[in-house]
Amino acid sequence: MNATSSPSRSGLDWARAQAFLARERASFARANPRSAELAAQARQHLLFGVPLHWMNDWGTPFALHVDSAQGALVIDADGHALVDFCLGDTGAMFGHAPAPVAAAPAAEPAAPATEAAAAAPVDGKKVYEAQCQACHQATGQGMPPTFPSLVGSPIANGPAEAHIEQTLKGKNAMPPFAGLNDAELAAVISYERTSWGNKGGAVTADQVKSQRGK
Ligand code: HEC
Repeated sequence: MNATSSPSRSGLDWARAQAFLARERASFARANPRSAELAAQARQHLLFGVPLHWMNDWGTPFALHVDSAQGALVIDADGHALVDFCLGDTGAMFGHAPAPVAAAPAAEPAAPATEAAAAAPVDGKKVYEAQCQACHQATGQGMPPTFPSLVGSPIANGPAEAHIEQTLKGKNAMPPFAGLNDAELAAVISYERTSWGNKGGAVTADQVKSQRGK
C-alpha cells in the first residue's frame, strides 16, 4: 500500500495519520520497557512471538504484558493500572479472576504439567489402569489364553530386564509402550512386580532409561 495516499481513505490526511501512529507507537514503547523485554523473551519461544497470532494485529509495536488483573482492572508489567474496556470479552462477561474461580485451583491438588510431571512421583497403579488394565484386568489375572495373567507371571517375578524389554517393545498382541516416559514405565512395571502377591521388586527410571533403544 502507498504510505502517502490511500484512495479508500478519502478525507483523511494519510501522511498525518501515519505520523500520528508512529508517535503513538514510540510513546507506547517508552512507557512499557518491561513489556518490551518480556515480548523480546517471548519471541524466542513462541511462534509469531505471541500465544495466538492475531495478537500481532493490534497497533502496538509489541504486546502488552500483564502482571495481574481483577474485575475490569489490569496492572501491566510496567505497573500501569488500566481499565479493560474489551466489552465482548472476559472483562465484560465476568471480570478477570473472579474470586471463586481464582480460589478453585488453589484448593485442587496441583496437577503436574510438563516439566513438573517429570519430577513428580508417578502413581504406577494409575498408569496400569490407563495403559494395561484393558487386557491384564484390575486383578492382574488377564483373560487367558489371549491376555496372560500377571499374577505369578515368570516375567513379573523374574529379572527386571525382561519385564522392561517386553513393556518397551511389546510382544505379539501386546503393543509397545516406549511412548511412556521413563518414570511412568518404572512406576507401572514396579506396580506389576509388587502387586497381587508378585515378588519381582521395583525398578527405577534409570533402569528403564538404560534399556531404551537396545
Ligand atoms: C492390548 C492388550 C495388552 C495391553 C494393553 C497390555 N498387554 Fe501386556 N500382554 C498382552 C499379551 C497378548 C501378552 C502375551 C504376549 C505373548 O507372550 O505373546 C502380554 C504379556 C505381558 C507380560 C508377560 C506376562 C508373562 O508372564 O508372560 C507382561 C509383564 C506385560 N504384558 C506387561 C504389560 C504392561 C506393563 C502393560 C501396560 C503398560 C501391558 N502389558 C499392556 C497384551 C496386552
